Amino acid sequence: MPSRIIVIGGGMGGYGAAIRATQLGAEVVLVEKDILGGTCLNRGCIPTKTLLQSANFLSQVKKAQTFGVSAQGVTLDFNTVMGRKETVVNRLVSGVTSLMRKNKIRVVKGTSTIIDPKTVVVLDSKEEIKSDSIIIATGARPALIPIGGIDEPGVITSDEALSLTTLPQSLFIIGGGVIGLEFAQIFHKMGGKVTIAEILPHILPTEDAEIAQMLEEITNKDGVEIFTDTKVTSIETTENNEKKVCFTTKQGNEERIVAKVLIAVGRQPYIEWLGVETLGIQLDGGRIVVNERMETNIPSIYAVGDVVGGAMLAHVAMSEGICAAENALGLDTKMGYGAIPRCTYTSPEVASVGLPEEEARRQNPDIKVGKFPFMANGRALTIDETTGMVKIITNSYGEILGVTIIGPEATELIAEVTLAIRLEATVTDII
Ligand code: NAI
Repeated sequence: MPSRIIVIGGGMGGYGAAIRATQLGAEVVLVEKDILGGTCLNRGCIPTKTLLQSANFLSQVKKAQTFGVSAQGVTLDFNTVMGRKETVVNRLVSGVTSLMRKNKIRVVKGTSTIIDPKTVVVLDSKEEIKSDSIIIATGARPALIPIGGIDEPGVITSDEALSLTTLPQSLFIIGGGVIGLEFAQIFHKMGGKVTIAEILPHILPTEDAEIAQMLEEITNKDGVEIFTDTKVTSIETTENNEKKVCFTTKQGNEERIVAKVLIAVGRQPYIEWLGVETLGIQLDGGRIVVNERMETNIPSIYAVGDVVGGAMLAHVAMSEGICAAENALGLDTKMGYGAIPRCTYTSPEVASVGLPEEEARRQNPDIKVGKFPFMANGRALTIDETTGMVKIITNSYGEILGVTIIGPEATELIAEVTLAIRLEATVTDII
């Protein structure tokens, strides 16, 4: 009899695990309470990158004159932009649906609870499903912060920002991380006035500090107002139904009146309904704790993707899903996190892999740092995008420890150095 696997959650982690498990001969049931594709396809990477494409296209057309092209009467139709986003998302979701069918994965709709390490109950239908292993891939949802006014209408998370019907004329973003910055690009380029409040001294605090600082200056110069070292104290609704955001910076108290407030302060693992406490699955600050084989402390229960915390990235989730499925089916696979590309779709883009300079220096004072500015790069000049640089960190043997790129197509270029790190190439090999 083939091994039976239940996967809870149909995002990148979950459907990746399900497909790998069927490839290895298992009988797989995937339970999803919402739509297949999870955050990446429905509320994250794909919709935001589709909107960014419209925003970036508009910016390009506005500078057509630079390239000797004349374009008059350029306008943005927000409904068409949002409609295109829907089309792209639906296309990909139906792609995942047919992948499930093709791989003979039974998809069950509903919220599920694990009642014992071999049994899942679908709450909606009360169906009880037995299995040999369970893979939890329930993802994460936007985290909220305890400030007055957070529940007011008009205070939104990235989920609601992706289904707006009109372009907000002004937007206050709390959180200068990846989500905050990508939405800032979208709405600023489409014509909204954007303010960002970041609690730490720099935006993109997990990236290379020098590069985050560069991005901050460029974004500010482009017209997005950025406050760092800033704490938002309250949000109120005014008589005109606008939002008054009060905040404290190092210089003193400030306020802004805006149409909408976007909360982008991180994401919280989604563990409701699973029954993790009853089962005794080990948690750490709300995330499920796993080992390098993606096993929880309960034999036969695995967890992958955003629900285990760490790098909440779609490609990481899929890799972890494959790892869990392989281990559940008798292989011995370990997750490696040394060569994970991280991409932020700002203007210019920021992409990195391996260690940022500060962390590399902390681990090894003997590092070498090489930098090359796009200003001196012919290809960058031809496309009129000369802002930024490539920074490569190596040890004394030339082994690459980390690379951060800020500049045109950084998110595409990073794949090359990711492969180099993966193959343990030195800088000389790359040259
Ligand atoms: P994040 O952790 O990247 O950034 C959250 C930011 O909010 C941090 O800079 C933090 O210091 C700041 N913050 C926290 N509390 C605050 C407060 N009270 N006031 C002001 N600022 C505060 O989280 P984010 O941007 O919400 O993204 C969530 C996850 O989604 C991340 O793990 C990210 O990697 C992933 N993601 C990835 C994308 C990509 O790969 N391009 C795109 C969007 C999200």
